[in-house]
Amino acid sequence: MAFDATVDLGRGLLLPNPVGVASGTFGYGFEPLELVGIDHLGAIYSKGTTLNPRAGNSPPRIAETTAGMLNSIGLQNPGVEVVASEYAPIWATWDPPVIVNVAGADIAEYVAVCERLDGVPGVAGLELNISCPNIAHGLDLGTDPGAASACVAAVRQVTSLPLLVKLTPNVTDIGEVARAVETAGADAVTAVNTYLGMKVSLRRLGPVLPGLGTAGLSGPAIKPLALAAVARLRRAVAIPVVGIGGIASTQDALEFLAAGAAAVQIGTANFHSPHISRQVVRGCLEYAAQSGLETWDQVLQRPVRPEPA
Ligand SMILES: Cc1cc2nc3c(=O)[nH]c(=O)nc-3n(C[C@H](O)[C@H](O)[C@H](O)COP(=O)(O)O)c2cc1C
Repeated sequence: MAFDATVDLGRGLLLPNPVGVASGTFGYGFEPLELVGIDHLGAIYSKGTTLNPRAGNSPPRIAETTAGMLNSIGLQNPGVEVVASEYAPIWATWDPPVIVNVAGADIAEYVAVCERLDGVPGVAGLELNISCPNIAHGLDLGTDPGAASACVAAVRQVTSLPLLVKLTPNVTDIGEVARAVETAGADAVTAVNTYLGMKVSLRRLGPVLPGLGTAGLSGPAIKPLALAAVARLRRAVAIPVVGIGGIASTQDALEFLAAGAAAVQIGTANFHSPHISRQVVRGCLEYAAQSGLETWDQVLQRPVRPEPA
């Protein structure tokens, strides 16, 4: 049988391949389109979108750490109206599905944003970011299974779009939150958002990133933690898991598939290697051909071979 590269995330959301680019690291796709192209991608997950435009936190908003980076962007975005009326019509002409990452200060805002995006051509799905560590309220929803479930249930009422829920790793048991959102109507879960971190300036004797003091840690530093979260989720829920955290090579992406992810997202690596997503898509397809796979599920049954030198 010929290899089928597509991935089904539920409710009709079919990705041409499992490799997407993560929210906040690829904008709304327009600048990267010029720089690296988009046709190779399995999906584009947009920057977090709120009801009204947001300027985000004051700079500095990013800082380098050992094998990673901290960010405290604070959800800078143009607001849902611009996304729905100006961006989506362009996305409707693109090949890769665009999944809009949605954020809000409370459940009512999530509902309003998702209601506006429902049925808009060019919007292939929604990814509820209930886990942003850089605004005051968003994190609470994702750390409380009851609140997370209430948010997903409310959004489910106003949209028939495929609904992914992006989980925070900053909890004791990520599986518990995942089960709650699955029951409330999520079609898939994305894991993970950034880990809560901090960098200290000894000169100022205070945090390097002023915003909330703490910030979100991403990049290779979090990969083993994110892999463990994905493996935990694979056992906790039946819906697809989209894996993310420190992916910077084909080998990394395959490790996430082997740990139980149905699809993956590349985040921070886009900043230092803008062409990385193209390389990883190509590498995964080569792996599938060399291994004689028929579907990606079979990665789960095979040991992942090292990347060719
Ligand atoms: C600068 C920056 C901005 C981000 N903005 C968002 C966002 O708006 N919504 C969201 O759900 N995740 C956001 N994230 C989190 C990433 O999508 C991803 O979950 C996280 O960085 C871990 O993946 P990585 O290690 O591959 O970067 C952002 C990350 C970075 C580095």
